[in-house]
Amino acid sequence: MRVPMIIGNWKMNTTVSEATELVNEMRQELDQTGSVDKVICPPFISLTTVRELIKGSSIKLGAQNLYFTEKGAYTGEISPLMLADLCQFVIIGHSERRQYFNETGEVTNKKMRAALKVKLNPILCVGEKLEENEEGRTEEIVTEQLRTSLAGLDYLTGLIIAYEPIWAIGTGKAATAEQADETIGLIRHNIFELYNERAARDVRILYGGSVTAANTTEFMRQPEIDGALVGGASLRASQFLSIVKQTAETRRVR
Ligand code: 13P
Repeated sequence: MRVPMIIGNWKMNTTVSEATELVNEMRQELDQTGSVDKVICPPFISLTTVRELIKGSSIKLGAQNLYFTEKGAYTGEISPLMLADLCQFVIIGHSERRQYFNETGEVTNKKMRAALKVKLNPILCVGEKLEENEEGRTEEIVTEQLRTSLAGLDYLTGLIIAYEPIWAIGTGKAATAEQADETIGLIRHNIFELYNERAARDVRILYGGSVTAANTTEFMRQPEIDGALVGGASLRASQFLSIVKQTAETRRVR
């Protein structure tokens, strides 16, 4: 059974007091919107504060990254154990990590393993660059990223994958709903090939890249799309609430 899911990735935005304000603005309505899983991923330094603010609500908490070692002399890094204590989800392999911090598929794989070891639910991101898209290589790139990130891992219940074409992130130029649906179908097929039919049926696959209140319904109407990973629009309470509500109305449990 695939319950739709909307995740807000705040990226490197909000001070602790801004994060508090944003959560306070949307907490009640967000909590009351049913039949959608709602996850917010604030910056590390706001996790503790946000965790307290959403306590007792249906809103879940995620981190945006992690390091793959449990503890030790890694100045400035955050370990899986530290996160497991605070939140349920963690974004892994976001294209901004791959692009600006040189994260390879091998690192993503290590991070997947590290998250699973402490029972954090990974939100694995994949997506192609503009030139790769234009060269018709989307399928090849996404398949390669998926297979490298999941290499050697048994299927895990609760796996979440986000298809985020890099050219659609923060550009205001979202993929068309049909494009996103097609690639997500392909990702599901890969999960079938890597694991089995049940895994392919259960895995939730989200779309991300310039999702707003204006295009949410279009995406959620598609048969393969189970929700959205939202960047910019998740920083505005009214936008994020609207995205969650439209998802609840459009995309029933499958
Ligand atoms: P935008 O919604 O700002 O395009 O960001 C998408 C994203 O990268 C979410 O992880």
